[in-house]
Amino acid sequence: LTCERYGLRRLPFARLGPGDAAFFEGLMPGRACSDPEELKSFNVDWLKSVRGCSELLLKPKTAAEVSQILRYCHERNLAVSPQGGNTGLVGGSVPVFDEIILSTALMNQIISFDPVSGILVCQAGCILGKLNEYLEERGFIMPLDLGAKGSCHIGGNVATNAGGLRLLRYGSLRGTVLGLEVVLADGTVLDCLASLRKDNTGYDLKQLFIGSEGTLGVITAVSILCPQKPKAVNLAFLGCQDFSRVQETFTTCRAMLGEILSAFEFMDEKCMELVEKHLGLSNPLRGCPFYVLIETSGSNSSHDEEKLNSFLEQAMTSGLVTDGTVAVDDKKIKTLWSLRERITEALTRDGCVYKYDISLPVGKLYDIVTDMRARLGQSAKNVVGYGHLGDGNLHLNITAESYSHSLLDAIEPYVYEWTARYNGSISAEHGLGFKKKQFIQYSKPTEAVFLMQRFKAMLDPKGILNPYKTLPSSP
Ligand code: FAD
Ligand code: MLT
Ligand code: ZN
Repeated sequence: LTCERYGLRRLPFARLGPGDAAFFEGLMPGRACSDPEELKSFNVDWLKSVRGCSELLLKPKTAAEVSQILRYCHERNLAVSPQGGNTGLVGGSVPVFDEIILSTALMNQIISFDPVSGILVCQAGCILGKLNEYLEERGFIMPLDLGAKGSCHIGGNVATNAGGLRLLRYGSLRGTVLGLEVVLADGTVLDCLASLRKDNTGYDLKQLFIGSEGTLGVITAVSILCPQKPKAVNLAFLGCQDFSRVQETFTTCRAMLGEILSAFEFMDEKCMELVEKHLGLSNPLRGCPFYVLIETSGSNSSHDEEKLNSFLEQAMTSGLVTDGTVAVDDKKIKTLWSLRERITEALTRDGCVYKYDISLPVGKLYDIVTDMRARLGQSAKNVVGYGHLGDGNLHLNITAESYSHSLLDAIEPYVYEWTARYNGSISAEHGLGFKKKQFIQYSKPTEAVFLMQRFKAMLDPKGILNPYKTLPSSP
């Protein structure tokens, strides 16, 4: 479907032959799968919006195996699509045609953890939530958290430069990832798996692979700096009457909560309706057009509670917030977080989802939602806005009963033009993948795209790594 829409042609890569199957079976017995049934779920993305037709799934266990796979594919001119937990939202993790799927599912070993520095070194296929559990047992946490934590792999997180719910506090992976081991397209193993906070010896090559979406190399191991597990966590779930009050709540809480603020998320009432309707969750507040989740993480519970309470008093008396509830115990905290984290899931149950992930000045963040609602009228089922307000990141989502070209044409490129007008980013955290690569020019100048293409050509001269993704096809 998508190939048809974008008028895409399969590039002249080699096709798999019996000799190839024999080579991979010899290299990794029992881990080179060509069973169409098993391949099904690896060929379809999480949103079930794009589907490839790969006939071979490889599950290496080591960087050495990844190196042998890529060296062979490079020589044979076979295209490869790297895949982690397959939770990506831009169609980047599944093949477009018959690319070989290289899954990191079996690369799930923790290599080391240093409780003094908080530095974790692990293989790329470790599941984010599992890593977090491992660290919590040792008094630490992962510096990132996503609704997809139960399935996504740390390698996939790095490959997409995932943001998520903790970025406001711990910063992006560009700061917390200290080192990477990457296998290049020709099989070369690039060992930049440093565990140093400071290292200014030449260009910082790992940055090139963070956010490269499987197009420049396969990440096989990650060294990452992890913060201490906070001793005290509080969560406030609040209702606001309009978006300007949401914004003002943010500036007030930043001023009053300072160093203990660890998340500021928002969602509109339509999101709440959907999590209630499709997932049976219950909204503890009623009748507010907007809701915010404010998390504090600190080391002294009475100090943090005192700060949070004086902020809440100020927010209520000044009319910024009309209703609210606070959680300190783990169970209630999880329940409140799920109202925000499970919006993505609720949307998929609402119908066909058109997903946009944009960075905008916070003052403009919600205008595109209102504008889009008016523009689409009855042709959309629901138009909702939620996201990481503290990071200036809006998730604009539109649902419809079924996929329609005309609805898509009403949304795109309008949404991208709108974003570019305010110097925003058309992909704040999900990447460009397959679905958004042709729109890169709305956020990057021609010279930058050209330089990216030169990097790609240098690192992957035959273009075998995740073809048709991230960079626009040449005219
Ligand atoms: P995949 O989906 O398997 O792959 C994603 C991309 O990375 C593909 O291009 C793939 O080729 C490449 N890739 C994967 N592994 C490697 C590797 N080892 N080496 C090289 N390339 C590789 N994203 C956010 O940023 N913030 C969020 O808050 C967030 N929340 C989400 C919530 C839900 C419910 C879901 C379904 C998704 C969410 N996402 C979010 C999107 C997604 O989870 C992230 O992009 C995640 O980082 C992808 O990891 P993954 O292992 O599933 O990668
Ligand atoms: C989120 O913040 O919930 C994720 O990025 C997923 C989404 O955009 O739906
Ligand atoms: Zn997000």
